[in-house]
Amino acid sequence: MPLRADWSYPTQVRFGAGRIAELGEAVRAAAVAKPLFVTDATLAALPMTEAAMARLAASGVPARLFAEVRPNPVEANIAAGLAAFRAGGHDGVVAFGGGSALDAGKLIAFAAGQTRPIWDFEDVGDNWRRADAARIAPVVAVPTTAGTGSEVGRAGVVTDLATHVKKVIFHPGMMPKTAICDPELTVGMPPVITAGTGMDALAHCLEAYCGASYHPLADGIAAEGARLVKESLARAVRQGDDLEARAHMMAAAVMGATAFQKALGAVHALSHPVGALYDTHHGLTNAVFLPYVLVFNRRAIEDRIRRLAAYMGLRPSFRAFLDWILALRAEIGVPHTLAGLHVGDDQIDLIVAMAVADPTAPGNPLPLDRRAARTIFRRTLTGRL
Ligand SMILES: NC(=O)c1ccc[n+]([C@@H]2O[C@H](COP(=O)([O-])OP(=O)(O)OC[C@H]3O[C@@H](n4cnc5c(N)ncnc54)[C@H](O)[C@@H]3O)[C@@H](O)[C@H]2O)c1
Ligand SMILES: [Fe+2]
Repeated sequence: MPLRADWSYPTQVRFGAGRIAELGEAVRAAAVAKPLFVTDATLAALPMTEAAMARLAASGVPARLFAEVRPNPVEANIAAGLAAFRAGGHDGVVAFGGGSALDAGKLIAFAAGQTRPIWDFEDVGDNWRRADAARIAPVVAVPTTAGTGSEVGRAGVVTDLATHVKKVIFHPGMMPKTAICDPELTVGMPPVITAGTGMDALAHCLEAYCGASYHPLADGIAAEGARLVKESLARAVRQGDDLEARAHMMAAAVMGATAFQKALGAVHALSHPVGALYDTHHGLTNAVFLPYVLVFNRRAIEDRIRRLAAYMGLRPSFRAFLDWILALRAEIGVPHTLAGLHVGDDQIDLIVAMAVADPTAPGNPLPLDRRAARTIFRRTLTGRL
């Protein structure tokens, strides 16, 4: 079966190896004539980025490069990108990179049409209705990691350095017009980034699947996404040029983000403050928390996890599922405790307060109050499941 297809679920996705060749056409189809090319400094130096820029020029839609995006982007990155967008008279964005560059590109395109600061659009209540939707600039998204699924998402994550809070900015119009998912672009990812981003995709699938609300569409997508991770993540980490494994991980990332409109939970609620305070990698941080959160939630999710385990070809039991997660983490080099991320208990009170206030906390299958967040955090420090 060729791993190539066109999806609209709901974002238009051009999926398959080599499809970066269609970038110019996709930009034109999005009615963009003068794109700002948003990426990060590491990626800007890679030949594949230069090649993508050259393709745009050859297609008659030359782009200007903006690469002042750091991993875990901050407000200053968005402000600088917005200034570049306006100064260059751009009419759209090509967002090229991991979640950091994709989110930054989406946020720049969103902010370009607004007069209010981006913080007014934090994903709380109906804040998004304040936006002038008609003036959001179009985005073509090109992921180079397989994890966040930001290429099909309606949100961007940005850290507010004044408060050290990682905030989710949401608007339905922030969804890219088109995503080009070309697994060849992920071949050069270092194993630790492959592992971390892949576990982010798994965390999205599992937190969506375990969420308590009724959303069978999301459940189905999440279950198959988790199965693809089981088939492919360790392979992709071990053998970076295994294009089949890379393709399945890229699909799992899209599926995780499609599913998590249902819910996220305590993994993300705890990982957001840790990422904001310690600048750890988002997916790797999720991977450390994941088994502790599953065990904490056990009584609410045991039946569902049993069903999922059976679907994934495991013994249909919670224990078998947990053992699989622990074995996968060990195989791909995820630390078992927070010490492996150089995170200690020095800011535990703040982390607990931030976790319960995180917009993802209410999606956890059991209530995530301060006591619960503290318990999970302590266990993740000590390694006692
Ligand atoms: N919008 C969403 O829905 C959503 C969901 C989850 C996470 N996020 C956010 O996304 C960010 C994390 O994104 P990420 O995990 O993709 O990592 P990232 O974008 O921060 O990239 C991590 C590192 O990998 C490098 N890299 C990326 N692709 C590469 C490639 N193909 N070859 C070599 N190096 C490469 C980058 O330059 C960077 O140094 C966080 O800010 C997180 O909060 C957003
Ligand atoms: Fe995530």
